[in-house]
Amino acid sequence: MSLPSSATIIEVGPRDGLQNEVKTLEPDVRVELIERLASSGLRKIEAGSFVSPKWVPQMNHTDIVLTQLHRQDGIQFRLNNSPTEVDSAALPLSYTVLTPNLQGFESAVQYKADEVAIFGAASESFSKKNINCSIDESLKRFESVMSAAKRSNIPVRGYVSTVIGCPYEGDIEPSAVAQVAKTLFDMGCYEISLGDTIGVGTPKRFQSMLDAVLKEVPVNRIAVHCHNTYGQALANIYASLEMGIDKIDSAIAGLGGCPYAKGASGNIATEDVVYMLSGMGIETGIDLSSLVSTSQWICNILDRQNQSKVTMAIQ
Ligand code: HMG
Ligand code: MG
Repeated sequence: MSLPSSATIIEVGPRDGLQNEVKTLEPDVRVELIERLASSGLRKIEAGSFVSPKWVPQMNHTDIVLTQLHRQDGIQFRLNNSPTEVDSAALPLSYTVLTPNLQGFESAVQYKADEVAIFGAASESFSKKNINCSIDESLKRFESVMSAAKRSNIPVRGYVSTVIGCPYEGDIEPSAVAQVAKTLFDMGCYEISLGDTIGVGTPKRFQSMLDAVLKEVPVNRIAVHCHNTYGQALANIYASLEMGIDKIDSAIAGLGGCPYAKGASGNIATEDVVYMLSGMGIETGIDLSSLVSTSQWICNILDRQNQSKVTMAIQ
């Protein structure tokens, strides 16, 4: 299959990136991060999670973040209190939040999230550790979120975690991934994001997993979500592009990880994905130099090492 001519990047840094950080950021800093990312041309940004603050304290105050974000048409965001015109050419700006249950979904509606994401797993043990229920129980829980979302006309994205390996169970069968992906898609998720939560995938294994999933879900409804623990994420993304996938999750500065996946490190850095795609002539609509400056800014605030090779090379 020929490579796509354009790709959509889903920025997960303000959610996946910050949920695993030692330092919890104040809502105003999270808002500035999101607005800087939007100003780089990213149109799909995960802004936070409505999960239990006892489980993930870093995502507490997602309500304040959503309230403070600037979302007017034409002037979609504001940095340092000066309104900035944005090129609203392609997609409208969309802010997603994670909602594990109806309680989270109701908060998402109250605080006007543009879309929500439910998150399941292909591994029983990870499901229990992450959302305190079995895969079947989680799918039942998601049904009530889906019905409420249909009534409110809110798009729902579905995650499948541990699509290659699980920190508690080891290798995961592609058929297990395909089954959960199909169930989420049949339930009404408009897109399924396949998460290599602990970054153990390699290109051939990624393609075998995708082979199984693509028998159940159309290729244009699939995104890949690669953590870079073993440095394989770009190779896995390339292998996915070869199979026609054109939706890629990534996080600024390679921030990220899941507090309930032992050993998981950050997502692939958004800068590194944009650099690779641009070098291959695949259009993203994202300004790399603006991403690099946001990447440096957030790493200074978090007082942590930048995980983006591209930012380290050109800063
Ligand atoms: P539980 O303890 O089984 O839930 O947790 P519960 O219904 O018994 O409620 C317990 C308490 O949580 C109650 O409060 C509820 O009100 C509260 P209390 O009475 O004790 O004060 N609660 C909530 N509070 C706020 N928002 C809510 C909510 N629901 C219940 N929505 C639960 C079950 C799902 C809530 C919990 O396990 C949880 O919050 N888990 C979230 C874990 C998480 O966010 N993990 C990271 C995201 S997933 C990920 O990173 C992977 C991904 O990136 C893809 C990949 O890399 O593969 C997406
Ligand atoms: Mg993740």
